[in-house]
Amino acid sequence: MSDQVKLTIDGISVEVDPGTTILNAARQIGGDLVPPAMCYYSKLEGSGGKCRTCLVKVSKGSEKDPRPMPKLVASCRTTVMDGMEVQNLTSPEVIEARKGVVEMLLINHPLDCPICDQAGECDLQNLGYAHGASGTRYEFERRTFDKIDIGDKIQLHMTRCILCYRCVFTADQITNNRVHGILGRGDTSEISTYIEKAITNDFSGNVIDVCPVGALTDKTFRFTNRVWFTKPVDAHRNCPTCKGKVTLWYKGEDVIRVTGRKNHYGEVEDFICNTCRFEKKKTADWVIENPTPIERTSVISSNHYDTLIPLPVIQKNKVLIKANEEEFARTKKI
Ligand code: SF4
Ligand code: FES
Repeated sequence: MSDQVKLTIDGISVEVDPGTTILNAARQIGGDLVPPAMCYYSKLEGSGGKCRTCLVKVSKGSEKDPRPMPKLVASCRTTVMDGMEVQNLTSPEVIEARKGVVEMLLINHPLDCPICDQAGECDLQNLGYAHGASGTRYEFERRTFDKIDIGDKIQLHMTRCILCYRCVFTADQITNNRVHGILGRGDTSEISTYIEKAITNDFSGNVIDVCPVGALTDKTFRFTNRVWFTKPVDAHRNCPTCKGKVTLWYKGEDVIRVTGRKNHYGEVEDFICNTCRFEKKKTADWVIENPTPIERTSVISSNHYDTLIPLPVIQKNKVLIKANEEEFARTKKI
């Protein structure tokens, strides 16, 4: 007998290992039925269960006990059962609840996308487009905070923080000396000022990549450009501290930002060190691989990135021209 667990999500069946969460089972199917996740991060142990954007309806608990679960559940924290039936997009109740979650996340989050560096790659912005209401019902004063300086590399905008805890887990698990966390409760919660002490660690810059909104941004990239005017390229270098696999964000011939490479769910594949992120901003520092695959739905694609206008650095280099022959041929056809 197979020890796999069989369930259906929006009518599509999938078999997964026991102990898998509904969210990860949905990710094995892929596509639109995968619930959004603002706080869960597969690379960070213990993450999830904070934001409630991944709510789903369990209309049948299991083969043994077919009763539906009485409330919507967080799919990132609920493990699958054999015979379970889950509804995400097929449940109007879930869609309505998600709308409410987005409304709540936006209660204090300022709508400053026009001046926010995260615009164009912000999970909350995407979620707002998909599920947001056109207005707010909230009439009270928004939260404000005293500005906290957390060093010359990372900018903290506490008003944009959705308290997902990802940066706390990152500091805890990647930098091995967590010195920050979330202080206070309810609407007085905030990332503690101890965050400034984590800055000296070689891997502290990863908090920028895991932040789903623009609460933690890269000071060395800040206000230099809009992300949809840049061209991302995968590159690597021989780094003694991390794997050195990154995405370089080009504007013309200049590397204006270096980030970790992200997968389809916006999660970093390998965490990178601060030297790669902040100090290696010359093309000569890197071996360029290929253009970073960009989702068709991303605003970065609206820059017609898929049609590939080769970067000047590629146009001048015979080895890179050879390596990109296939892409050039495709571009010509287009
Ligand atoms: S600063 Fe960003 S990563 Fe940290 S808790 Fe707030 S939203 Fe999450
Ligand atoms: S992703 Fe599941 S609660 Fe946030």
